[in-house]
Amino acid sequence: MSHTDVSGGMYDKIFQTWEVVMAKKIALFNHKGGVSKTTTAFNLGWALAANGRRVVLVDADPQCNLTGLILGYTVSNKQISNN
Ligand SMILES: Nc1ncnc2c1ncn2[C@@H]1O[C@H](COP(=O)(O)OP(=O)(O)OP(=O)(O)O)[C@@H](O)[C@H]1O
Ligand SMILES: [Mg+2]
Repeated sequence: MSHTDVSGGMYDKIFQTWEVVMAKKIALFNHKGGVSKTTTAFNLGWALAANGRRVVLVDADPQCNLTGLILGYTVSNKQISNN
């Protein structure tokens, strides 16, 4: 089935401009725990940045594991409290 482009290509131009201007968002999603979502986000973000892309990694997980990875937290430098 074909359709006639009554916009004269205007919508194509808008979407091409949109793709250049807007940031691309990548979501790594899986219901299962411990399957490398955080590790993959970290390495993918790092690799994209190393290849010249501007990258924002957003850690919305209360576990803060991605933040910990980026800041270099280890068990030895974590403050552990029983309170
Ligand atoms: N490619 C890999 N090879 C070996 N170990 C890995 C690999 N990817 C992740 N791991 C290890 O598996 C464990 C779980 O990884 P990760 O924390 O990234 O999973 P997750 O899906 O984010 O977990 P959660 O559901 O708790 O957020 C970590 O100890 C991580 O170091
Ligand atoms: Mg995680």
